[in-house]
Amino acid sequence: MRTQTELLSLAERMPKAELHLHLEGTFEPEKMFQIAERNQITLKYKSIDELKAAYQFTNLQDFLDLYYQGMSVLLKEVDFYDLTMAYLEKVHSQNVVHVEVFFDPQGHLERGVSFEIQINGITKALDDAQKKWGMTYRLIMSFLRHLSEESAFETLELAKPFLNKIDAVGLDSSELNHPPQKFSRVFQSCKELGLKITVHAGEEGPPEYVWQALDILNVDRIDHGNRALEDTQLTAEILKRRLTLTVCPLSNLKLCVVDSIKNHPIQKMLRLNLNATVNSDDPAYFGGYMNENFNSLITESNLTEDELYQLAKNAFEGAWLSREQKAIYLDMLNASFKASAIS
Ligand code: ADE
Ligand code: ZN
Repeated sequence: MRTQTELLSLAERMPKAELHLHLEGTFEPEKMFQIAERNQITLKYKSIDELKAAYQFTNLQDFLDLYYQGMSVLLKEVDFYDLTMAYLEKVHSQNVVHVEVFFDPQGHLERGVSFEIQINGITKALDDAQKKWGMTYRLIMSFLRHLSEESAFETLELAKPFLNKIDAVGLDSSELNHPPQKFSRVFQSCKELGLKITVHAGEEGPPEYVWQALDILNVDRIDHGNRALEDTQLTAEILKRRLTLTVCPLSNLKLCVVDSIKNHPIQKMLRLNLNATVNSDDPAYFGGYMNENFNSLITESNLTEDELYQLAKNAFEGAWLSREQKAIYLDMLNASFKASAIS
């Protein structure tokens, strides 16, 4: 039996995949002020401390209001590059070897920032990380669900010249009152274009929204999925389809989806054999990147070594990687657990 300290160290050292990460949610206050200044934009907050003090949320919408304000300083390709690279450097230092990241094109298009500027800045950083460290990646374009399906279709048109750089489409923003079925036609078009589909469902919304994600949008993955546990038939269906759930413990705590990490459902998901994974969602806003999320589960929920292994393994298995690449990462993961057993 490993001590808690040993488990913490193993969680830091093991190779990890992150499957649920919004690039705009990696905007550290210091970087936000720096980019705002060079773009001659005045933020509503006078100082970094004042901005940080505003990071108190009672629900998803509270957070989203701040999140959209924060991203509004991104104007140029270099801004998207710098934001993405800062995240990649951070998670490289945490032994994350594969990332599948979201960006919200509509949040920038409505400010007059072209699709091309966004995607070029982001993919240049991702390609540089791949060259420098061998880090692999997938890019997910996400539709904002508080906007119309028509707007999602317009965004898809703008994305068409860049489809070689986009692996999947997501659905994020305000979940309540914006069920997946609102976007049935646009996701059908995305499927026909060969894009993978992943949808935020069951973060705040009811199990019915998760059913719609499965049955109407025919998703390949579910983001969050916490509230699926309220419906045993639904969990059985997720299990049957072997769908991965991209779970975000610190995000759930910060957005009051759970009242404590101790009461987080991720261990229950594992006991039900669901393919739960650990992710950071919007780390700059929620108090931590991948290692801090694992750390909180180990220290507050007494995560066991078997659970830690299963979570890390689920992420590589649920990643949109080739069979060969998955096998390489799983071998690395196994080696890190074996090495720690000896030491
Ligand atoms: N956009 C960024 N983070 C999000 C979250 N946790 N839920 C929904 N939309 C988001
Ligand atoms: Zn999210």
